[in-house]
Amino acid sequence: MKKLTLIAVAALAAGALMLSAPTAYATGSGAGIAGSSHDFSTETWNTREEICRTCHVPHDHQRDIYQLGLLWNHSTSTATYTTYTLDDGTAVGQPDGTSKLCLACHDGTVGIDDWDGQNTGAGTVFIGGDDQVPGNITAPNDLSRTHPLSVVYDYVPGVTDEMNDPATTPMGTSGMINDVLDLGKVQCSTCHDVHDNESVNATHLLRVSQKASQGQASGLCLSCHNK
Ligand code: HEC
Ligand code: HEC
Ligand code: HEC
Ligand code: HEC
Repeated sequence: MKKLTLIAVAALAAGALMLSAPTAYATGSGAGIAGSSHDFSTETWNTREEICRTCHVPHDHQRDIYQLGLLWNHSTSTATYTTYTLDDGTAVGQPDGTSKLCLACHDGTVGIDDWDGQNTGAGTVFIGGDDQVPGNITAPNDLSRTHPLSVVYDYVPGVTDEMNDPATTPMGTSGMINDVLDLGKVQCSTCHDVHDNESVNATHLLRVSQKASQGQASGLCLSCHNK
């Protein structure tokens, strides 16, 4: 009897864990990370010649960043950002969750090669990639000129019905919208799959293509917004 109870408790605990830490993140196009913008295995600064290690490492090397979860192995940004102000005047809070991991490279303040406790000065990258000139579209620390980030996906049937039901609306092939939210919020990884190869359909690693010829025009936006 006692053993059964323990199993039941363990099962409950596992269920609770799954609820508090939503997983998902199937692949966007399914092509995988190899050969993509996030495959740094052939960079001169990557003497390990591995793909995953730039961002994840299997064992803690006693660096604080590991506490962020996901076996994180890339130094993060300490920037405080100017955030987006919604049309109703509400200012969105500072980025959190997995967005902090993307911004570990994409806010232009931390070296791409600042991982495994090393940094050889390989340069930085911005939200808009290499094409983007600082101060042009989104300067470092300025998230006010990009889609609201780390913003709660507020859905109340009949009240906020300008948004699609996140529990039942698919996000491309990545499960339902709920599966790609983190902390219940829209993060970088909600729209993009970092483990994908953009060369397949040239859609900036988006989970849903924006192109009419690849499904639906503005398909990503319409996945969430009921317009
Ligand atoms: C450029 C950085 C980067 C690289 C390289 C990378 N990841 Fe990730 N990974 C992330 C980020 C950021 C997240 C959190 C957001 C998400 O899940 O999409 C994540 C999440 C994950 C997760 C948990 C969520 C999920 O998708 O299941 C796993 C597992 C994972 N990565 C495995 C890998 C493996 C295996 C590799 C190498 C083949 C790899 N990653 C390469 C950045 C990276
Ligand atoms: C609401 C969805 C959404 C969110 C959230 C989002 N993006 Fe994007 N992102 C897009 C779309 C759509 C494009 C394609 C833009 C275009 O074609 O002009 C894009 C383009 C990009 C590009 C390529 C730009 C280029 O010109 O090559 C990068 C890099 C990027 N996003 C990084 C990020 C990062 C990092 C975050 C989080 C800090 C983020 N995105 C959050 C939707 C999103
Ligand atoms: C280890 C550093 C690093 C991390 C972490 C990282 N990126 Fe990138 N990302 C890059 C670099 C470098 C490029 C290539 C920029 C270029 O060539 O223009 C890139 C390119 C991109 C592109 C553009 C691909 C294209 O060609 O259209 C997108 C979109 C993107 N990243 C999104 C993300 C998202 C979302 C996350 C987090 C889930 C993330 N990145 C995490 C370094 C990183
Ligand atoms: C993953 C779901 C998701 C996707 C994909 C998405 N959005 Fe959003 N969007 C949101 C959420 C959530 C908000 C915040 C709404 C709120 O709280 O008022 C938002 C806010 C906005 C706002 C600002 C509203 C305001 O009050 O200022 C605009 C405009 C917008 N989105 C347009 C777009 C466009 C255009 C695209 C495609 C490029 C897109 N969204 C993709 C979820 C999404």
